[in-house]
Amino acid sequence: MVSRIIPVEPFDLVIFGGTGDLTRRKILPALFRRFCAGQVPVGTRIIGAARSDHDTAGYRALVAGAIREFSDPQPCDDDQLEKFLNCLDYVALDAKGDRGWADLAAKISGDRVRAFYFSVGPGLFGALAQRIQSNGLANAATRIVVEKPFGHDLESARALNQALAAHFDEGQIYRIDHYLGKETVQNLMAVRFGNMLFEPLWNSQYVDHIQITVAETVGVGGRGGYYDRAGAMRDMMQNHLMQLLCLIAMEPPAKFDPDCVRDEKLKVIRALDPVEPHHIVRGQYLARGGAEIEHPSYREAVGDPRSSTESYIALKAHISNWRWAGTPFYLRTGKRLVARSSVINVIFKDAPHSIFGPEAGQHANILSIRLQPNEGITLSVTIKEPGQGGMRLMEVPLDMSFAEALGSDGQAAPDAYERLIMDVIRGNQTLFMRGDEVEAAWAWTDPVIAGWQARGEVPKPYDSGSTGPGDADQLMARDKREWRGIKP
Ligand code: BG6
Repeated sequence: MVSRIIPVEPFDLVIFGGTGDLTRRKILPALFRRFCAGQVPVGTRIIGAARSDHDTAGYRALVAGAIREFSDPQPCDDDQLEKFLNCLDYVALDAKGDRGWADLAAKISGDRVRAFYFSVGPGLFGALAQRIQSNGLANAATRIVVEKPFGHDLESARALNQALAAHFDEGQIYRIDHYLGKETVQNLMAVRFGNMLFEPLWNSQYVDHIQITVAETVGVGGRGGYYDRAGAMRDMMQNHLMQLLCLIAMEPPAKFDPDCVRDEKLKVIRALDPVEPHHIVRGQYLARGGAEIEHPSYREAVGDPRSSTESYIALKAHISNWRWAGTPFYLRTGKRLVARSSVINVIFKDAPHSIFGPEAGQHANILSIRLQPNEGITLSVTIKEPGQGGMRLMEVPLDMSFAEALGSDGQAAPDAYERLIMDVIRGNQTLFMRGDEVEAAWAWTDPVIAGWQARGEVPKPYDSGSTGPGDADQLMARDKREWRGIKP
C-alpha cells in the first residue's frame, strides 16, 4: 500500500514554546517525518520561539537531539535530518513583553500559510494572540493552534475562547485533541459511514450497551503538578473519551466537512444526561505491591500524601435522544493499569428468540474497535460448536488486524501529530474541536466534579498493574454486564 501524499506549498510555522517538552517529543519529530515523506516542501520556515537565548546553530542542535531521541521507531536518516534542520530558525521572545517580536516579524513574510503553534500553557494564549496581531504578524492565511488543557472548567474555557476570539475568527483557531488525529479514531467514521452493514443496527433497538476503555500502563510521570490539579476526569474524560463517544454516537453528518461533523458531535454532548453519583467510580493507584516496588503510588508520584485526585474514572452515561435512549455508555480510563489498551466495544442485543432452546447457549454479537495497540476490528459471530452431539452455539471472532490487512511497504501510518499539523497547513478543521464543543463538554463535566467534591468523596485505591478498582466491576455487575477489553 502506497500512501497518497497531498502536496502543500511552502509555509511558515512558528512554534511558541519551541524548546518545550511537547515540541521536542511530538511536534518536531512529527514535522521531520512529514519532511521525510516529502510533505514539508523546501522553502518552508519553521521558527522556534521561547524565552531562552539560542542562536540558530544552537537551536538546530537542540532539535537534532530531540529528533534522534524521539523519532523512534523510524530510523533517523542523517542526510534528511541535515536538510530538515536548514528549515529551522529561532527567536528568543517574551510572550508577555516586547522582546523578540520585531525579530520574529523579520523572519516571516509573504502571503503563504502562517501557522502559530501555541505549545505553551493556556495562561499565555491571550497574550500571544494579542501580540501576533499588534505586531502585524497575521496575514490572511494565518492559523493558530492551541493544545489541551483547554481550560480547567467551563468558566476558564469560556475565558480562553473569548481571549482568542478577540483576535482571531473561529475558522482560524485549531484546538488540538490528539485522539482525533489517530488513524483508527478516524476509522470509526469510516466503519460507521462507509459500510451499509452497521448503521441500520446502530441504535438502542439493536445495541445493548457500548463500552469505551482507554487504559494506560504509564503513571503520572513528571507531570504530577498538572495532573494532581486535573485528574482523569479533566485530563482524559472531558476530551479524549468524550470525542470517542461523539464519533460513536453522532448522527451521520451530511458531509465530511468541519462544521457538518462538529455540529453532529455537539448535538451528542448536549444530549448527555447529568451523571448519577452512583454511576461514577473514581480510583487512585497504589504502588506495585510486594517487595519489588517498581512504581511509586499516585500520592508519592504527585508528592501529596493526602491527594484525593483520581487517576482512574469509570462512569455510566446516557444520551437522551431518539437513537440512544435506553442504551447506556460505559466509559473508563486510568493510569498504571494492567495493559495499554484503547478499545470501543459495541455489544448488540441477544437474538429475540432462540430456536435451538436454552441448552444451546446464546451469544451477543460484539463489534470491537481496537484503537491502540494492534489496531483493528473484531466482530464476534455465533456459529455451531463443531461436533456431532446436537446443536450447541459458540462465539468466534471475525478478526481484522489493520496492519495485516493493509500491509505497510515499510512506512508507518502518520501519527496523530503528523496528520493534525498537516491539516492545519491545509486549512482543514474537521479533526479539531470547535469552541462551542469544548464549552459543552465542560458544561457536562463540571457538575460531575462539583458533585463528588460536595460529597467529599475520596477515590478508591487500586493496585498498579490491575484493571482498576473493584467498584468499577460492580458498576457493571449491578446491570448484569461486565467490562471487556483490557487484556494483559
Ligand atoms: C494526554 C494526557 O492528553 O493523553 C495524558 O494528558 C495521556 O495523561 C495521553 O497519557 C494519552 O495519549 P496516548 O496517545 O498515549 O493514548
